[in-house]
Amino acid sequence: MNEKSIMVELSDLAARLSTHALVTVFDDDPQRINNLGIQAPGMFADFSKQRIDKKALDCLLKLAELRDLTGFFARMRAGDTVNTSESRAAQHMALRAPEGARSLAQGKTIAPLVEAERNKMRLFANKLRAGKIKGITGRPISTLVHVGIGGSDLGPRLLAQALRRFSAPGITLRFAANLDAADINDALEGCDPETTMVVVVSKTFSTRETLANANVARAWLVQHLGENASSKHMIAVSSNLAAIREFGIAPDNVFTMYDWVGGRYSLWSAVGLSLMAGLKEGAFDEVLAGAAAMDTHALNTPVRTNAPLLSGLISYWNQNFLGMQTRAIVPYASRLALLPSYLQQLIMESNGKSVQAAGAPADHAASPIVFGAEGTNAQHAFFQHLHQGRHPVPVDFIGFVQDQEHNPSQHRGVLANMLGQSRALMIGTQGDNIEPQKTMPGNRPSTTLLLDALSPFCLGALLAFYEHETVTLAVLCGVNPFDQWGVELGKHVALDLQGRLENADTDGIDPSTTALIERITKPL
Ligand code: F6P
Repeated sequence: MNEKSIMVELSDLAARLSTHALVTVFDDDPQRINNLGIQAPGMFADFSKQRIDKKALDCLLKLAELRDLTGFFARMRAGDTVNTSESRAAQHMALRAPEGARSLAQGKTIAPLVEAERNKMRLFANKLRAGKIKGITGRPISTLVHVGIGGSDLGPRLLAQALRRFSAPGITLRFAANLDAADINDALEGCDPETTMVVVVSKTFSTRETLANANVARAWLVQHLGENASSKHMIAVSSNLAAIREFGIAPDNVFTMYDWVGGRYSLWSAVGLSLMAGLKEGAFDEVLAGAAAMDTHALNTPVRTNAPLLSGLISYWNQNFLGMQTRAIVPYASRLALLPSYLQQLIMESNGKSVQAAGAPADHAASPIVFGAEGTNAQHAFFQHLHQGRHPVPVDFIGFVQDQEHNPSQHRGVLANMLGQSRALMIGTQGDNIEPQKTMPGNRPSTTLLLDALSPFCLGALLAFYEHETVTLAVLCGVNPFDQWGVELGKHVALDLQGRLENADTDGIDPSTTALIERITKPL
């Protein structure tokens, strides 16, 4: 079967399935839950409520074969140059590989670098938790203010909140990302400078937001502790050692990132330093272990029973054949409120592209528009649209079997809501006696990821699951999931406008921006 005939068949199957009630496909295939319910590390992934059947799946599997999906994963893990526009490897899996595993990037051995950096992180974290890292006045550091943005912020921030139950006693983590100075001001508010350390995280060490916030933090330290404060109160995580030196952070206070890992795939590197230190000993290693277990599953399982790769095939199918361009992420855990933001960057910055890696226009969409919020809150926000809006939105429901709050009744309530919503979206309500406004069309697809617990291991596995799903979509559509050229234009234009705002300069600018500059720069 060639690509053209696969596409024709997928279109035919999609047309047929859209007239088929989702509930009836269970009758057509009594083995459906066994075929589409997959046990993966830390989770049971149930794809059986997706609007897909065996024929469509077989066809998608043929496409995956044609695109050499498993070959791409093998090449990525081998350290080949899969990020072609930047001539780099994408070795995020090496960062969480068990010690002793062989890892290369573009032919060069990187395993010793990974292990050395991980050991350096562990040493720092252990010393910090033991009160052995002292500030300039001799008092132990107990607060870390993590300054970074995008991939240098979202992962540690997400997991610090999600894993609160595993927090190291006595250590406080704060985060600042936004260029709005309120963010760094809020992060520093109430901190005791003598016991605070600022961790500046930026792969490039050129990101405006991060440098601006780092400057504010440094000024705050200097104001309270004197000129030498940064030697004991500032550390950096970056791949740009020259820029760190220029900023004035001593080489001894630097943790290294490498260009073979992209920002949004970098939680597992020294980007996770403040998270590692803020969690109890061993918890961050468990995050890595969960991700590594998902890597093994992704690399070694046939696509048909490979949870993240199958999820990628289904997302590709939903977007390009069922016409569903959006995707809702709804974790049923209040501590996972930041998961949708994390996944927005992972999925949309990786795959929001219309040109293939080789330069040709992409025929298919690799990135849905991702939004979401934590259940049950989301049910009182956008779920009305999910049940009755004109545009069906596939949903990822994420739940946890274990009750960690020792409140079985509320925990059961949370899970009942999750199951209830996915079932209601599938079955809808129709009938002669139901008023039209109260009719729900049903037939709305969802995936349920049922995790064992809100634990470091399971969350590591969950984030790796979405990384592999994202790469799968990119491979199917031929885009490069590791670059982000689109973000650059906005940065350049903002830089130009910063100068124009300072000088009220509207020369050669469009009328809309001119009018806005005039209003902003006009004295009040
Ligand atoms: O948003 C663009 C981006 O380049 C992301 O890919 C990255 O995670 C973020 O900015 C931060 O970059 P850096 O770590 O270099 O400061």
